[in-house]
Amino acid sequence: MADALPRTADVGVIGAGAMGAGIAQIAAQAGHRVRLFDNRMGAADQAQAKIATTLAALAAKGKLAPADAEAAAARIVPVHALGDFVSAGLVIEAIVEDLDVKRRLLRELEVVVAPGAILATNTSSLSITALAAGLKRPGRVVGMHFFNPAPVLPLVEVVSGIATDAQVAAAVHATAAAWGKVPVHATSTPGFIVNRCARAFYSEALGLLWERAADAATIDAVMREAGAFRMGPFELMDMIGNDINFAVTKSVWEAYFHDPRFRPSVLQQERVAAGHLGRKTGRGYYDYGEGAVLPSPRTEPPAARPSRVTLAGASVLAEGLAARLRAAGLHVATSPADAALAPGHLVADGTLLVPCDGRTATAIAAACGHPDVVVFDLAFDYAKCARLAVAAADGCSPAAVAAVVGALQAAGMAVSRLDDVAGLPVMRTVAMLANEAADAVTQGIASARDVDLAMMRGVNYPRGPLAWADAIGVPHLRATLHHLAAHYGEDRYRLAPLIARRGATGGKLGE
Ligand code: NAI
Repeated sequence: MADALPRTADVGVIGAGAMGAGIAQIAAQAGHRVRLFDNRMGAADQAQAKIATTLAALAAKGKLAPADAEAAAARIVPVHALGDFVSAGLVIEAIVEDLDVKRRLLRELEVVVAPGAILATNTSSLSITALAAGLKRPGRVVGMHFFNPAPVLPLVEVVSGIATDAQVAAAVHATAAAWGKVPVHATSTPGFIVNRCARAFYSEALGLLWERAADAATIDAVMREAGAFRMGPFELMDMIGNDINFAVTKSVWEAYFHDPRFRPSVLQQERVAAGHLGRKTGRGYYDYGEGAVLPSPRTEPPAARPSRVTLAGASVLAEGLAARLRAAGLHVATSPADAALAPGHLVADGTLLVPCDGRTATAIAAACGHPDVVVFDLAFDYAKCARLAVAAADGCSPAAVAAVVGALQAAGMAVSRLDDVAGLPVMRTVAMLANEAADAVTQGIASARDVDLAMMRGVNYPRGPLAWADAIGVPHLRATLHHLAAHYGEDRYRLAPLIARRGATGGKLGE
């Protein structure tokens, strides 16, 4: 393992915008003298003053010793020419996201800095390989991808291009760790880890909205309250900005030669065309104007609890839900699985309550010759979730739906009934997140550990997608993707080879 940059080494930061200023603050707080440059007159000085104010505010809140805040601010020196980077051991550029402009900068920089200095880029979408090409020492160019706001978000993707020296990547990894960050290694491919593997979080929700399975507020509530995601996809897109989210999706899709896995949504394009960019314009999927009230999720009215609930057979999901019902005082009898009906499911007064496996409830009803079928969604933790999504088969009677709704309500869950789509929100999202993560591992973009870590620490997912797949059981995940692919007839749902393999043998993904 390479050593971190010594504290005595100078760090250069180029670009004093949102990211550059944050990175300068982190390096200064870690004890480095930081030289900050921006080609816009006065920008570096303004950024230095702003960082000093931020550090003073942290000290006022007791999060930092006042002397440390002052010392860190004093370590940031605005400079006015690239020649001032001659002493830097590491230079991180965070200028405009433009390949030609960044390449020009790196060319100018490489003749200024010492031969052993590392040149890092905070690019979020450009190829590290392309940025380094043509330089005298391409081996010292590496991605050091911070997330916004950099002082707050822990993840740093350390991205290696084809020419990046492994020692350089290791040194930047160690440096990020020494700065209190959570670094992961990635190879240079479109979207690196997070911006690639997170696409499904948005696209599955957009697909459900496109199909009018439910409204945005209901999908968001299910993702938060059953999926345990910090925010629902639509509220998150509104916060990020629909224009930015759309641009990232489009750039990843184009960079993967229009792979349907990453295909953007017409719905999102329409939002952008309308100027409904999210919070920043006062309107996105939701209205943020004065006096606007955020819509409530669709929630089933109270129903009577069923007189009899049975757990038929075994499955992780059905057992998890049965345990929740039992904990709430419902008597859940057990009976052997009836394979002709459905694998591991519950029965509430004759209604089959089947774990989501990528089939519609109607398809399951047809397959087992039983009209009263309701599918229930995946939950992060059935013991604690406040809400659960369900969908009923077309032929399911209102009384049959009420039996399962009553059982779930009796256990303290709000129930959101969606239209009978293939794959309910949490299950289809987790399946597709894991599918993408599995491909990233197969392609050598990152290790299973680093992919999971990146998704937890970069975008706050409650669990890494691969570990989540393992908790559900890879065979169930495989079946879900297989059913989604069959239902939609789209290449988008094709199985990652690793899931196909491990799903067949019962092996794990996160190992
Ligand atoms: P920004 O627009 O806030 O700041 C860019 C700064 O670079 C500006 O102050 C500009 O004057 C300066 N600049 C432009 N060309 C320059 C040059 N040739 N030499 C010196 N300074 C120059 O942009 P932001 O958001 O800070 O992004 C910077 C980089 O970080 C981009 O590569 C972006 O893709 C990446 N990034 C951005 C994230 C975000 O959420 N904003 C997250 C992660 C990475």
